[in-house]
Amino acid sequence: MPLNNEIDEKADELLAKMALAEKIGQMVQIAGPKGPIPDDLKQRLREGKIGSMLNVTDPQTNLEIQRIAAEESRLGIPLIMARDVIHGFRTLFPIPLAQAATWDPQLAEACAKAAAKEARSAGFQWTFAPMMDIARDPRWGRVAEGFGEDPVLAARFASAMVRGFQGSDLSDPGSIAACAKHFAGYGAAEGGRDYDTANIPENLLRDVYLPPFKAAVDAGVATVMSAFNEINGIPATGNIRLLRHILRNEWGFSGFVVSDWRSVAEMIDHGFCEDMKDAAEKSVLAGVDMEMQSSAYADHLEKLAMEGTVPRTLIDEAVRRILRIKWRLGLFNKPAPYYAKPADAPSMEDRELSRTAALKSIVLLKNKNRLLPLSKNIRSLAVIGPLADDPYEVLGTWNRDGRAEDAVTPLAAVRNFLGESFRIHYSAGLDYSRSSDTGQFARALEEAQRSEAVLLFVGEEAILSGEAHSRAYLNLPGSQEALIAEIARSGKPIVLVILAGRPLTIGAVTQYADAVLYAWHPGTMCGPAIVDLIFGNESPSGKLPITFPKTEGQIPVYHAHKSTGRPPENVPLTMMEDIPLRAYQSSLGDASRYLDIGYLPLYPFGYGLSYTEFVYANIKMSSNRIRMDEPFEASVEVTNTGGMEAEEVVQLYIRDLTASLTRPVRELKDFERIRLKPKETRTVVFHLSTDVLGFHNSVMEYVVEPGRFHLWIGGDSTTTLMTEFAVVR
Ligand code: BGC
Repeated sequence: MPLNNEIDEKADELLAKMALAEKIGQMVQIAGPKGPIPDDLKQRLREGKIGSMLNVTDPQTNLEIQRIAAEESRLGIPLIMARDVIHGFRTLFPIPLAQAATWDPQLAEACAKAAAKEARSAGFQWTFAPMMDIARDPRWGRVAEGFGEDPVLAARFASAMVRGFQGSDLSDPGSIAACAKHFAGYGAAEGGRDYDTANIPENLLRDVYLPPFKAAVDAGVATVMSAFNEINGIPATGNIRLLRHILRNEWGFSGFVVSDWRSVAEMIDHGFCEDMKDAAEKSVLAGVDMEMQSSAYADHLEKLAMEGTVPRTLIDEAVRRILRIKWRLGLFNKPAPYYAKPADAPSMEDRELSRTAALKSIVLLKNKNRLLPLSKNIRSLAVIGPLADDPYEVLGTWNRDGRAEDAVTPLAAVRNFLGESFRIHYSAGLDYSRSSDTGQFARALEEAQRSEAVLLFVGEEAILSGEAHSRAYLNLPGSQEALIAEIARSGKPIVLVILAGRPLTIGAVTQYADAVLYAWHPGTMCGPAIVDLIFGNESPSGKLPITFPKTEGQIPVYHAHKSTGRPPENVPLTMMEDIPLRAYQSSLGDASRYLDIGYLPLYPFGYGLSYTEFVYANIKMSSNRIRMDEPFEASVEVTNTGGMEAEEVVQLYIRDLTASLTRPVRELKDFERIRLKPKETRTVVFHLSTDVLGFHNSVMEYVVEPGRFHLWIGGDSTTTLMTEFAVVR
């Protein structure tokens, strides 16, 4: 890779040769043609009027477009070919939310690396990933694409995936440019409705929503995407404060910013821009270097520059940023380093990686009487449910280049694992997750009755999460709840496996099941990963990266909430059904909670069971009086007291008890995944510095305030193993 200053020189040399129209061309990104390349597109390429394309999936078309740009345009500048490689290319890994449930950023890095290799050989040098929007509302369909509710967890995954996609050299055949998206606040959409307004106080923005982006920038992310939403009244795509002041000036981001799909034009609908010309002006001034899909730049930027409304230096700056990334990607190397071949079927190695990722992402929510792992003595099993044998749906949202034929369903994997002599009784029960046709229920019940145990696969089809797929009800769609109740009539032990793109309100159905596994959308190796867990080849070790609400009315509910003046845990609470008629108001317990569901979520953040038991003891700190700016250690002994070797995610939380701005009741600060043999004890030591204890105060300074703190270490966010310390000057 050429050195940074060489790249700067090359970019400047090229820039000096470029006409204004050619410069603006670099700032234009459009979707590729569906069929043959139309003549007018060829002409635009020859004139150097397109800098990048997305979704050019036909390898021949991809190469031909690059050839025209490189050979027939005046300056021969290649395009960057982009694609949404969100959780894999041909090999699909678990959806990002599921990857976050592994609490294993290195594993996510490996998945991103594998995806980059497949994507680059298919002709793409740029992915619009990772998405790192903090999401505390599971109604939002895009919660599937991110890393959940917590800034520390999301930041670790954001930087890991950037490293995985980009490698150490963007010009390597296994590297692609990453894109930190959607900058910023997209996950805070009102009501969980996609694209909706975000109002985020600046300190919350800086403490919760921005840290993953900062981590991505620190990891060297090549590009950033501006979000669709408005934030505090200003669309993210026209937001000077976000894109110039914070991203470039404060953080020193040196890559380029791309808009989201038509988000420049959509500023007119937001009521922020008069027309397309105004939209071009506002986004370029804000710092959007490349416009995706709408044509405000192509149609108006030249005029705006000629008039002097948009300084030419700003255009030069944007183009320089884009050209630098093209150089770093090696696009100018000779012979041309772009290749585009149809993707091969997933390699054995990638399949194994996908299986490991799925295995570690699946969360065991319930295991009554230790039903799981299933006893080796069972001779017959019923496999039931609309998602038991659907190879397409297990791949999840943003499956652009994966194929159902590569995926292994749970039914196929169970059959493969148990072999011919075992009796497997299969019935879908419902044709698909939303179906309300109960016509197959009787047959499904029969299959359950003639088996010793039931594996029941329910959830959401892939299309029910992802972009623009918000839901107001978060229960199992269609007649799936009724199917579960029906199968329960068999009296057979039930293992409920839920495949979904978001937390679902499953409280009403878990009572019917002895064991519940939350499998998200696991990707290509769904079946084998689930089989490994059900039959005990491995113990479940996934932990929830997002709180599960009891019901939609409880949203938002997340672990790092604030305390009120009347915390519910301090008073006896009378629940709705127990309220005497005409009760005196304050006899019920005046506290922050719901009369009908209390205040606890269905499952807390960080939660997940194992087949073994982990006991935490001896929480210690290097000192209970820590000087400002000094490193310190917190440690705990974890013992596997059960009978199986297994992995556990050890989580460290703190609370700053008194501060000039109130702090959350718990904040995750660190975590580590460990593997322990039966009876093994390990001391897990976290190395921290007081720097992680701070927050943005009322004048937006990042401060660590002296005073008392609580520190917990345990297996989820409700752990009670606590110690106290003070930070002193
Ligand atoms: C999404 C982005 C995506 C882009 C390109 C938009 O609709 O919001 O996340 O990268 O399309 O496909």
